[in-house]
Amino acid sequence: MHKRSVRDLDVQGKRVLVRVDFNVPVKDGRVTDDTRIRRALPTVQYLLSEGARPVLISHLGRPKGEPDPKYAMDPVAHHLGELLGEPVVKLDAAVGPEVEEELEKWDGRGVVLLENSRFYPGETKNESDLATQLAALADLYVNDAFGAAHRAHATTVGVAKLLPAAAGLLMEEELDHLDTVLRDPERPFVAILGGAKISDKLGVIESLLGKADLLLIGGAMCFTFLEAKGYEVGDSLVEDDYIEEAKRLMEEAGDRLVLPTDVVVADKMEEGAESRAAEADRMPPGMMGLDVGPDTVDLFGEYIANAGTIFWNGPMGVFEIDAFAGGTEGVARAVAESNATSVIGGGDSVAAVSKLGLEDEMSFISTGGGASLEYIEGKELPGVAVLPDKED
Ligand code: 3PG
Repeated sequence: MHKRSVRDLDVQGKRVLVRVDFNVPVKDGRVTDDTRIRRALPTVQYLLSEGARPVLISHLGRPKGEPDPKYAMDPVAHHLGELLGEPVVKLDAAVGPEVEEELEKWDGRGVVLLENSRFYPGETKNESDLATQLAALADLYVNDAFGAAHRAHATTVGVAKLLPAAAGLLMEEELDHLDTVLRDPERPFVAILGGAKISDKLGVIESLLGKADLLLIGGAMCFTFLEAKGYEVGDSLVEDDYIEEAKRLMEEAGDRLVLPTDVVVADKMEEGAESRAAEADRMPPGMMGLDVGPDTVDLFGEYIANAGTIFWNGPMGVFEIDAFAGGTEGVARAVAESNATSVIGGGDSVAAVSKLGLEDEMSFISTGGGASLEYIEGKELPGVAVLPDKED
């Protein structure tokens, strides 16, 4: 990675403001998936071992620029304390004289966790006033929030311009793995894309077509491609406005774009609905495709088994419902069994992998949803761009 690393900073005795992505699911006051917290621990532990005083800040959910108890960081603080085995001092604000006073009083043991950055309207607007107040809290700034690096906010961009800044260890790891996929993949490079809409994935498809040897398409978006081929897709979800785009992409990609040969159809998208496999070119009228079929899983599985590098984003079907989970599970197992370098990006495919307990079988699971997609798309992430380059 060519960005300055936290390892390049002299952090001993310094207060370090660390932007983490602790945007985790919380239910009844408890964190229900702590992946993002666990993945941020190496940076926090590194800072502690180097004698720094980490002051952590994150957003949680999408509150409307004002305090909202539903999105307070207390459950996260509690959980972080358990994982870290060190005191976590949770403050009820993120900036202001009271926070500054608390930080002066802090005995320096463990870490401080500030309140949700999105309780301030200046966060998402990247207001300089908020960035200045944040900068007043610390000597150094480290961004370890890869998952929020596609947001140009006060905690990801504004404050990075006001303090000596560097990337955290998770941020480095994320960029290194995604860079391998983008710039130096072992071939064949097989990209697997799913999810509901072509419109959301257009940029990624375009980018991957320039890089991957094969693009395997599943998820609801495959029906727009199948419709564009003139196939009978029944009541499947089709984005009519994107049919021409789908035709263009298929023409550009030729044999490199691989569509399902069979799909699982049902008359309703619900648990217990009657479902069956159908050929991809003749889905029965009144039925909709909700997963890729078993032949497609075998076909994709063969490509996956021979891959040198795999990038996977997006489920193959409605995997939350058992009857339509077979495609996603089959692909997840094939990726887990392959010897390829496998990088999984994006919320839903990650959820599918963890539902099956296959996390350890993947080379790398990105903590970023939107961020990893934008990176693969070739977009510059504002939270990364703002960090200074490594000095030679
Ligand atoms: C995510 O969950 O993808 C990141 O934390 C960013 O959250 P946001 O989409 O609310 O900005």
